[in-house]
Parts: sequence; structure tokens; C-alpha cells
Amino acid sequence: MAKSLQAQGQTVYNLASGEPDMEPVAAIREAAAQAAMAGHSKYTQVSGTLALRQAVTRALLRDQGLAYQPDQIVISSGAKHALFNAFQCLLNPGDEAILPAPYWVSYPEQIKLAGGRAVIVPAAVEQAYKLTPRSLQQALSPHSRLLVLNSPNNPTGAVYSEEELRALVGLALEHKLTIISDEVYQQVLYPPARHVSPASLSAAAFQSTVVISGVSKSYAMTGWRIGYLASPDRALIQAATALQSQTSGNPTAVAQRAAEVAWDLPAEATRHQLAAFTSRRQRVLAAFDGVAGVAMVPPAGAFYGFLSISGCLRRWHEQSADAFCERLLTEQGVAVVPGSAFGAPDAIRFSFAVADEVLTAALTRLVEALGR
Ligand SMILES: Cc1ncc(COP(=O)(O)O)c(C=O)c1O
Repeated sequence: MAKSLQAQGQTVYNLASGEPDMEPVAAIREAAAQAAMAGHSKYTQVSGTLALRQAVTRALLRDQGLAYQPDQIVISSGAKHALFNAFQCLLNPGDEAILPAPYWVSYPEQIKLAGGRAVIVPAAVEQAYKLTPRSLQQALSPHSRLLVLNSPNNPTGAVYSEEELRALVGLALEHKLTIISDEVYQQVLYPPARHVSPASLSAAAFQSTVVISGVSKSYAMTGWRIGYLASPDRALIQAATALQSQTSGNPTAVAQRAAEVAWDLPAEATRHQLAAFTSRRQRVLAAFDGVAGVAMVPPAGAFYGFLSISGCLRRWHEQSADAFCERLLTEQGVAVVPGSAFGAPDAIRFSFAVADEVLTAALTRLVEALGR
């Protein structure tokens, strides 16, 4: 609907999208241009070039102390594709995947497409939107097969501490679950938050975790479509490669070369992007400070504001935020995503990875609309 309003000439402040408003740094774009000119135009290995898989292993070792071999990595067309492969290869019909809510929109659909059942476990605002060992325990059944963790989280920005992860991972291992750890926002963090991969907690956790990540969020490369799956499980790697071979084949060769350069960049190269997110986050926190009927856990990572607006909904006699989001778009020209998309119907999500002037205008309108 935002697009059709724009087509009619209405200004729309789009805070609904999940992509940074920046361009990848010059070194990445130059690598792609050079690759195109140098004839990187043929099929590559289905699971990605050896050079790119080596770059991924270097980044995993550098950033998280995780020691993978290149043949334990499958490069796919984005983290979304890597997740799809993982669910398809690990779930049999009737298997259950435990999924904390709020969750990223594609998990339940991908689990369903694989014939699995998503067992949704609410993690409330009072728990800072994090799964607790107690609710994990209650969700377990003889059919439990996977636990899906996403830290930093989309939509809430929640980041699990090492201690929190240890408790969850311990329980998951006890029940022989495989952990799908989506770490696509691993570099988008606000101190003192620190990224910890479940795979780094012990040798057993390493064996039982499938790490998923990509270049979309950390390097502003959403359209380049490069992500990966990392796992020491040889059967999973073989199955994901075979599946990809029969569906999409290798990800785009030129984009693979650019991603290779991205993963080798020092942290300083993208520090300006993180600085922009950090200052916009501060403005978001200030904007909602003291707004009645609204609760926000300050995001520790990613670039979304996630507001529980249950107090406002009661005042308006509404059950969910859907109607509010529609009114916000048609009356104020501000596009945000209703929480129902993330399994949290009394909330809204908006991105602050947008240009400063868009954020300023949209926040004013949003605060005004919530106050009605
Ligand atoms: C939590 C999460 N996982 C995965 C993805 C997909 O990332 P990619 O662009 O690499 O497919 C997204 C994109 O929004 C996301 O938010």
C-alpha cells in the first residue's frame, strides 16, 4: 500500500523496510566491478567459491573464535536462502521447531514449507523479549527437533548474554535439539551488548549448532544476496549443497567476490555505518521517553524500534495494532510493520536505518498518532 500511495504522489515515510539506507563501502563495490570486468561470469561451485568460503571461515574465527573448515560452509543467495536450506534438510514431517516470539517473519513459513510445526513460545516485553529456560522446558515434546535463536533479534533488537545462552543451550543439548542460530545482525550492536554465538559455548554446542549469517545487514548489501550456513555436520552440508544444486545452483559469482572482500574488511571500515545507527537509536529512545501507553525495551542490536502499544490499544478499544498501522499510513504517510507479522499483535516495528530527515519527520508523526 505504501507504494501505491507514493504512486499517487503522497509523501510516504517508509520505516517498514529491513534494509540500511547506506551503500556498501567503496572497496566492496570496486571488487564487484573488477570481478565483472575480469570474467567472473561462469558458474562457481554450488556451495560457493573456495575463496569466499575461506573468507567466511576467517571472519568466524576473527569475530567469534569459531574454527570451521571451508567444507563446513555453504554459501547461498542470502541468509534467508541458507535458513530455507537448513529447515528443508533438518525437518521431517511432524518435527517441531521451537520458535520464540516475537520472531522474524520468514521462520514460521519456512518451517511449514519443510513439513515441520513451529511451536511458538511467547517472550514478553517483561522478559525483554528473550526466551527463558522455563518456557523452553515447557515447550519441549518428544517431537522437538530444532530450537531457533536469533540474536541480535529482528524485530526486538534483543541480544542474549553469554549466561542466558548457556542456560538455553544446555537445555537444548540435553534434549538433543539442533540449534539454528541466525546471526545476520551480529555486527550491529550497541555497547555494552556483545555478540555470542551458541556455537562458541562448548564443543558439544559447536557440533549441534547451525550458524546462519550474511552480508545484508552488516555491510549494507541487502540486494547482493549472499549468506551462509556453517555446520560441522557433514550430512547437513551434503544435503544443503544437493538441495541448492537442484534449486538455485551457486549464488551470483560477482556478488560472491564482493562478499569475499566484505568479510575481510576490518571493523573500522564500516564503523561510520554503526555510528549512524547509534545516533538514530538515541533519537528513537528520546522520542518515546514518557509517551503514555507505549513500552519499549531499548534495542541492544539490529536497527529496529519495537514498541508494545497495548496501553494505546486499550484506549482505542482495538485488539491488535493492524488497524493503527493502516491509519498511520493513510493519514500520516508513515509506514511501519504491525506486530502481528512477528507473532506480537499488540506491537509495531519500525526501522531506524533510514535517512535522518525521514526519521525525524516519521517520529514526530508517529508520536502524535500514538497520543490520540
Ligand atoms: C533475522 C533475519 N534473518 C535473516 C534475514 C535475511 O537476510 P538476507 O538478506 O541475508 O536473506 C533477515 C532479513 O531481514 C532477518 O531480519
